[in-house]
Order: sequence, then C-alpha cells, then structure tokens
Amino acid sequence: MREKIVVFTGAGVSAESGLKTFRDMGGYWHQYSIESVASPAGWKTHPEAVLAFYNERRKDVLRASPNAAHLAIAALETRFDVVVITQNIDDLHERAGSTNVMHLHGEILNARSSVDPSLIYRLKSDVIDIGHLCEQNSQLRPDVVWFGEAVRFMDEAAMAFASASKVLTIGTSLSVYPAAGLVDEAKTSAEKYFVAPEYEYTPLGYRLLRGSAAVVVPHVVKCWMAGRKPC
Ligand code: APR
Repeated sequence: MREKIVVFTGAGVSAESGLKTFRDMGGYWHQYSIESVASPAGWKTHPEAVLAFYNERRKDVLRASPNAAHLAIAALETRFDVVVITQNIDDLHERAGSTNVMHLHGEILNARSSVDPSLIYRLKSDVIDIGHLCEQNSQLRPDVVWFGEAVRFMDEAAMAFASASKVLTIGTSLSVYPAAGLVDEAKTSAEKYFVAPEYEYTPLGYRLLRGSAAVVVPHVVKCWMAGRKPC
C-alpha cells in the first residue's frame, strides 16, 4: 500500500509559469471586479465581458508551460499515491504528468451549456464567443465555478485530506471558502507543509516553507523520494 499524499494548490503554483495570481500586486482582482467577470450576475448582465475575461486567461494558459513545481509534483506518483486538489482552472498539473487532479473551481479549457450543467465540452479553440451554442442551442460559458456557485469534489477532497499521511499546500492565500477550509481536514499526525514566498498566515499544524513554488517544491519532493523529511 503506497503512502497517500495530498498536494493542495492555488494560483501561486502557476505564477512561475507566467500566469497571474488573484490577490498579489498586479493580480486579477486588482484589475477586474469579481462581480463583473466571475459571478452569475456578471454573466447575466454582460456575458461578452465575461467571455472576454476568460478568453484572455485561456490564451495565457495555452501559452504557459508547467514549471519545476508542477513537474516535481507529477514525479511523486512514481513512489506515492498522490491526489492533486487544485483551486486552479489551468491544466498545468495535467500537462506536467499528474494523473489524479481534482479541479475544485472547474477547468478553463472546458465549455459548458448555460442551461444544462451536465453538457460539458473540451474546447478545440482558445475562445468562447457569443453565438457559440451547446447541443440544446443555449450559449456556451466557461466551465468554471463562479462566486456563489457550488464548488466541486468537496466531499472527495475532504476524504483525501483526512486519509493523507503527507500534505503539501502550495501558493494559496486561503482566502476563498469552502476550498480554503480543506487544510483543516488533514490528520493531526500527518506531515503538513505550507509553501509561500513570504510569511503568510500558516494553517495550524503546518510548517511554513518560505520560498517560491518552483524552488521549494522540488526540494520537498527530493526529500520525500529519499524517505526524508524536508529540512
Ligand atoms: N510560489 C508560491 N506561492 C506564490 C508564488 C510563487 N511563485 N507567487 C505567489 N504566491 C502566493 C501568494 O503569496 C498568495 O498567497 O500564492 C498565493 C496566491 O493567492 P491568490 O491570488 O489569492 O490565489 P488563490 O489562493 O489560488 O485564490 C483562491 O480565489 O478568486 C478565487 O477562484 C479564485 O481559485 C481562486 C481562489
């Protein structure tokens, strides 16, 4: 039975791939209002602005490549039973080789019917525009979870945290619930680390590993693969 690891990521794990975070300087929520581009109300009043916001982000994702953190996380699968639980909507974990990824907030490379959430389509192009319709002739929207909408995989994610013996949380401000509350589902006895570039609120029972994901995560993985705790 291989040891279970949960890797819990936020926008910071993709920062060194050139993708913006949300709350750092220059982040999305310093440029856009959440209400206008990431809420059902924004979609209702100006869908074209919402589509433009995600079309821009999707192009950035398609131009980006996995960084050393994504690659190191994927390498863990050679020795451990790994589940990546991510708040991110990019596909960089999958492109790095991770095979068990839960996207709590959806996936930007998928489109979804705006009337039937079960109708999900993998995008073949990099844009969704007004007039792009689902098979029920309704407007397509990004298959992402907007503020006020139900977050996905929460039960499975909580169970994964509760059964993991190692937990590595990377690049998240833990600002958005219910996702942020998952860190408290980990066992007291689990080995738990929080990777952040500067001192941040570190969840109870987690050891802060200060530094950027692309530097710190490969170090943690190297130690774990050698059967050691990160020093
Ligand atoms: N390496 C590690 N961490 C980093 C790096 C880096 N190179 N660069 C930034 N960070 C950290 C920041 O210090 C910050 O704590 O990543 C975190 C990013 O925080 P947010 O921008 O709030 O992103 P996130 O926590 O993923 O946001 C959660 O909020 O708006 C919603 O749906 C959105 O999924 C998102 C959720």
